[in-house]
Amino acid sequence: MRVELTVNGETCETDVWAGESLLTTLRDRLELPGSKNACEQGECGSCSVLLDGELVCSCLVLAAQADGHDVVTVEGLAENGELHRVQVAFVEAGAVQCGFCTPGFVVAAADLLRRVPDPSDDEVREALSGNLCRCTGYQKILDAVHEAAGR
Ligand code: FES
Ligand code: FES
Repeated sequence: MRVELTVNGETCETDVWAGESLLTTLRDRLELPGSKNACEQGECGSCSVLLDGELVCSCLVLAAQADGHDVVTVEGLAENGELHRVQVAFVEAGAVQCGFCTPGFVVAAADLLRRVPDPSDDEVREALSGNLCRCTGYQKILDAVHEAAGR
């Protein structure tokens, strides 16, 4: 089947198979490998994207469900060649180790700061509770989100 989506502000048309996830479409058909595939079960958050402004696990959304909708991936957060403040803060705070979880955390954190400009520690933990990291111990990720909030 053919789907048409708006991805990071651009209209994209592609063929997909009926059971194909949005994550697969983004990575394998639209050449946007930023969203990662770590579990493909909705457990890790590494595939997080915004679908019509709502944070979703793109591994749990069918590409067909996204037909006609607006998708923002981690690649779409930078503006005019400038990294998003969350991306800058992750680098500066040392919140990236292997980096596999990072795109999902960055999308989830950017979504939080759009809704809650100065979140409490509990609000950050709650907002990122769907994202797993096996490397950092999370503290530097929390530091990065607070640092980004202060920018
Ligand atoms: S790959 Fe989607 S939640 Fe893990
Ligand atoms: S930095 Fe390796 S999983 Fe998070």
